Amino acid sequence: MIRKVRKAVFPVAGLGTRFLPATKASPKEMLPIVDKPLIQYAAEEAVAAGIETLIFVTGRTKRAIEDHFDKAYELETELGGRGKEQLLSMVSNVVPDHVDCVFVRQREALGLGHAVLTARAVVGDEPFAVLLADDMVDDDADGVLSQMVTRFEEHHCSILGVERVPEDQTDKYGIVKASAFADRLSTIDQIVEKPKPAVAPSNLAVVGRYILTPGIFDLLTRTRRGAGNEIQLTDAIADLLNEEQVLAYEFEGRRFDCGSKLGYLIATVEYGLKHAELGEEFKSYLRDQLKALISRSDAA
Ligand code: UTP
Repeated sequence: MIRKVRKAVFPVAGLGTRFLPATKASPKEMLPIVDKPLIQYAAEEAVAAGIETLIFVTGRTKRAIEDHFDKAYELETELGGRGKEQLLSMVSNVVPDHVDCVFVRQREALGLGHAVLTARAVVGDEPFAVLLADDMVDDDADGVLSQMVTRFEEHHCSILGVERVPEDQTDKYGIVKASAFADRLSTIDQIVEKPKPAVAPSNLAVVGRYILTPGIFDLLTRTRRGAGNEIQLTDAIADLLNEEQVLAYEFEGRRFDCGSKLGYLIATVEYGLKHAELGEEFKSYLRDQLKALISRSDAA
């Protein structure tokens, strides 16, 4: 088996119901944080981790993602003609030349596990990453996937990105029970999808970063519909635990849950404040808004 992580799967075929109507005709992963769509942040994180093939599992609203990673001849000619070199380089270098983009269609949104299984023929018999673009993590460095690839190169087994969540929120995540064995790393003993707080084995939640061994595919073919009547990746990972060691990695960085409206707004504010062009102006706008808000609440 190849021991390097060279391919990354981006499941982008979900219905995105929490963002309707914005996601009626365009995938949630095309929502922008300031000026870049979520999927581009995730693709850049994968490339920074050394990934050479980006595999997008698309659904009914596939066009926007394919177009985003494709050449845009008309736009590039137009920008070139107007001498807008900076913008031209921005749209023509969405991914570097050595990186391939492959698009696979998930015909029905049967769940994350099913979306990952749809990528099987392109992934083949090698370890691969899965990135859920709506989980954005800012680590002020090369990104969470890069941190995880480094751990994979030491341990050569599946690794899930995890973080502690408030105990009353376990029913939004896959939750693991794990035994710590090294800095930020633990061996997973149990994994459950969206357990109610009363029965959750811990508050260590799986977020949208995985490195998986190809053994997961056979298990996914046998996985029945679970929580939400969907084929859950978590259920196949639970079966993988019977066959292989699976590690949980508590990543460094701050996660933004951009699959929820509040998380998305928070990410927009934080990335707006850090933005090279807009940061300062945005900060002074927020400062004024805050002052006005405080004086209104003092007056009330
Ligand atoms: P979510 O659970 O966030 O579902 O999927 P969703 O449909 O995207 O959004 P909501 O909850 O309805 O608002 C987690 C990830 O799995 C992908 C999604 O695109 C998202 O990246 N997914 C989910 C698929 O690719 N296919 C599916 O059948 C389900």
